[in-house]
Amino acid sequence: MADQHEVFEAGAASLAVPSLRWEEPPEGPVLVLLDQTRLPAEEAELVCTDVPALVQAIRTLAVRGAPLLGIAGAYGVALAAARGFDVDDAAEALAHARPTAVNLGYGVRRAAAAYRAAAAGGAGAEAAAAAALAEARAVHAEDAEASKRMAAHGLALLGELLPGGGHRILTHCNTGALVSGGEGTALAVALAAHRAGDLRRLWVDETRPLLQGARLTAYEAARTGMPYTVLADGAAGSLFAAGEVDAVLIGADRIAADGAVANKVGSYPLAVLAGYHHIPFVVVAPTSTVDLETEEGADIEVEQRPGHEVTEFPVPYVRGAGAEAGAGTAVAPLGAQAYNPAFDVTPPELVTAIVTEAGVVSPVTRDGLAVMCSTSRWS
Ligand code: MRU
Repeated sequence: MADQHEVFEAGAASLAVPSLRWEEPPEGPVLVLLDQTRLPAEEAELVCTDVPALVQAIRTLAVRGAPLLGIAGAYGVALAAARGFDVDDAAEALAHARPTAVNLGYGVRRAAAAYRAAAAGGAGAEAAAAAALAEARAVHAEDAEASKRMAAHGLALLGELLPGGGHRILTHCNTGALVSGGEGTALAVALAAHRAGDLRRLWVDETRPLLQGARLTAYEAARTGMPYTVLADGAAGSLFAAGEVDAVLIGADRIAADGAVANKVGSYPLAVLAGYHHIPFVVVAPTSTVDLETEEGADIEVEQRPGHEVTEFPVPYVRGAGAEAGAGTAVAPLGAQAYNPAFDVTPPELVTAIVTEAGVVSPVTRDGLAVMCSTSRWS
């Protein structure tokens, strides 16, 4: 099993500092987050000493993205245990901090189960807390390994779908090292293609309203030397029409048993465009994102976020104007109503393939997904 240092090394090329790390200073254990709301203006860290601080960081998207939410949730339980807080309360608060990414509950449950099993076996508070921490480290390391495997499976799939090389890949939101124990999901596949000399262009949707594409994916693409171009979300259609996109690669926050994919709002329109233009639409996510207990897409709870994220320019970054200048700048009349779902759901018939660490499902079927999830994670 990789240790925390090796885990960071796996994603190191994309990041100046790890997106999350556990530390044990003399004052007591802490979870240190790279504050993603400050990127790319600054690589600021946020130190969480308790679960309410971590819940707040999750809600404000200082720590975000499905796989990383699972890792953060697991460390959050370990933090509560190590600091002597009620683990059941902590697990409840963490698991419900955001509703859509199923990985959050997955990580929380694993660490809480390890804690409870140790306590039930007669372990004292310290040993039970150590068991929760060991499980959080395992969730972290497994995600790094899953990331490597998804990159390999995804690269092979691209080779089959686009035999000529020179791929022009469109991506949405942020799916790289910032959201993973390793190099990510969809962005890890793009990075693998880049390293193989097969990436001609990474088209980066800006991803309104919180700009995860323009701020975060572009940050990672720049750091890893990928040839990238940022576009306004509304420009994607003209890019397809011009024949400039060979494949769409996105991540997922929850994949229902029927293969419907919840991902950052704006993913579904890309799937419709890709279908119309006969371009592969590929979803890359670990099996921890597949939720076989959610029957179909309509059952997925989509997080609704505050309207001010749409009516105000939300990012604390304006080129050349200092980190605070852009925060909360209104872009709509005072009092304007806003519709702000954080995610949308793409039906399985629009998804060409789902790539996980266990392999590739294509065409996307209920049975295919179930079989893949029932086989070994590492097959
Ligand atoms: O609201 P966010 O920024 O947490 O949304 C993240 C996404 O939608 C990602 O595309 C998804 O979690 C996949 S990350 C590998």
